[in-house]
Amino acid sequence: MSTERSGFSYRNEELICDSVPVRAIAEAVGTPAYVYSSRQILSRFRAFDRAFGAYPHLICYAVKANANLGILRLLARQKSGFDIVSGGELFRVLQAGGKASRTVFSGVGKTAGEMDEALRAGILLFNCESESELQLLSERAARLRQKAPVALRVNPHVDAATHPYIATGLTEHKFGIEMAAAEDLYRRAQGWPGLRLIGLSCHIGSQIADLAPFAEAVVKLVEMAERLRREGMVVEYLDAGGGLAVAYQPGDSPPSIRDYGRRILACVRGSGLKLLVEPGRALVAEAGILLTRVVRAKITGRKRFIVVDAAMNDLLRPSLYGAYHEVRPVIRNRREQVVADLVGPVCESGDFFARGRRLPAVEADDLLAILTAGAYGFVLSSNYNARPRPPEVLVAGRRWRLARRRETLRDLVRGEIRSTSRVR
Ligand code: LLP
Repeated sequence: MSTERSGFSYRNEELICDSVPVRAIAEAVGTPAYVYSSRQILSRFRAFDRAFGAYPHLICYAVKANANLGILRLLARQKSGFDIVSGGELFRVLQAGGKASRTVFSGVGKTAGEMDEALRAGILLFNCESESELQLLSERAARLRQKAPVALRVNPHVDAATHPYIATGLTEHKFGIEMAAAEDLYRRAQGWPGLRLIGLSCHIGSQIADLAPFAEAVVKLVEMAERLRREGMVVEYLDAGGGLAVAYQPGDSPPSIRDYGRRILACVRGSGLKLLVEPGRALVAEAGILLTRVVRAKITGRKRFIVVDAAMNDLLRPSLYGAYHEVRPVIRNRREQVVADLVGPVCESGDFFARGRRLPAVEADDLLAILTAGAYGFVLSSNYNARPRPPEVLVAGRRWRLARRRETLRDLVRGEIRSTSRVR
């Protein structure tokens, strides 16, 4: 684990985030808690920006990966763009000072209401995923006397070897429009009243550790754009989606942001297309940990469990995808190692962070860090088992601040209606 990559490293056997001892954060805000390194997020954002150099481009951070306002604000200040998939994400971006004019709207299920909000806000681009969606958008925009800027999300049918739940680029997936159908629709929709067709987009999946499928998809889109342009149509933008992998396990060596940029540039250079990319995980995953405290060790028959105060409701990835997350002690003071399952208190056998893992022989009250939890961590959390959700802390160099407070018991019942004096 190097600070270079993640923002987390050891100093005198103590885990630090940037320059702040993680233990001090745990003492101040309690556990479980998410901790993010601003420095790391910024350095990865800049790496993406640099990777595309002088080529016309916009990095549209995929808000779904981590939607904390502090992180969105950090990126907005860097003039980042954003990729959103709901009216709620649009609200968050605007709250954080992000610009709708630098935001693209993806997703298969945009409702009329969400389209109206995005049109009123002045969104940069709608990535449309079906003919019926396009028809509705044209109607809504015409009603508002606007012409909605649109890219068609093409399904390029490339196989990006990844977890089946996060692969999106094959024709059997719900995402995008099949290539030939998209090309035909691009032509047919030219005259529709509320539209300005200006681009093509794709997103072939997530946690993709091989650059070849990205290149294959982008080449297919560039070729389609060139065909459409030859027929006199406007194609201004190419949105290559997100999906670049990060390292979860020791030995994982995902492509660098620089190589990713190079590979994509090699495919678009000379096309005159403005490039958009939508990285989520690659910007924030390694910059975050979930900090947790050991509640107790428990031995049943021949099996050892370490029960911690975080659970699947706080970080769902291991339960949902069987995802691997490294677990590290916050203080490296235990020599002995054990093989154990690291589990939470939730009443589900699927509530685990690690199984059969070699871990330090921790005891009650020891602090552990679950690594690479900055993406698809807090955003997938819930109140299952009536557990208040954890706080989020943003570290910047030597300083840190609470970016979201821990939920209280009151928060758990907020919005619920105690008694009904009137039955409808
Ligand atoms: N653009 C679109 C249209 C997407 O659907 C996604 C992710 C992204 C960009 C960002 O992809 P990234 O760069 O983060 O790979 N919950 C799963 C990941 C779901 C990804 C969904 N779409 C996980 O925890 O692995």
